[in-house]
Amino acid sequence: MKSIVTLSTSGARLNRPANSRNLLETLEYHQVQIEYQCRSGYCGSCRLRLLKGEVCYQQQPLAFIQAGEILPCCCQPKGDIEIEL
Ligand code: FES
Repeated sequence: MKSIVTLSTSGARLNRPANSRNLLETLEYHQVQIEYQCRSGYCGSCRLRLLKGEVCYQQQPLAFIQAGEILPCCCQPKGDIEIEL
């Protein structure tokens, strides 16, 4: 699915590349650095705040996240989203 990821701080609008398997890969493709460790939904270190839109997970992640937070290493945007970054 085509989608645009907007970064709230810079206002940058990033296209999701066709081969991106998750939001973390989309950010990396655009040289946007975020913290991460496990890249598979366990540690929670990649968590970000989702400001607009929705994401979906292939598998429900094990890491604890609060309402409004997402784990970019294991989710994909459902359409356009905005994240706090
Ligand atoms: S990097 Fe560990 S949960 Fe995303």
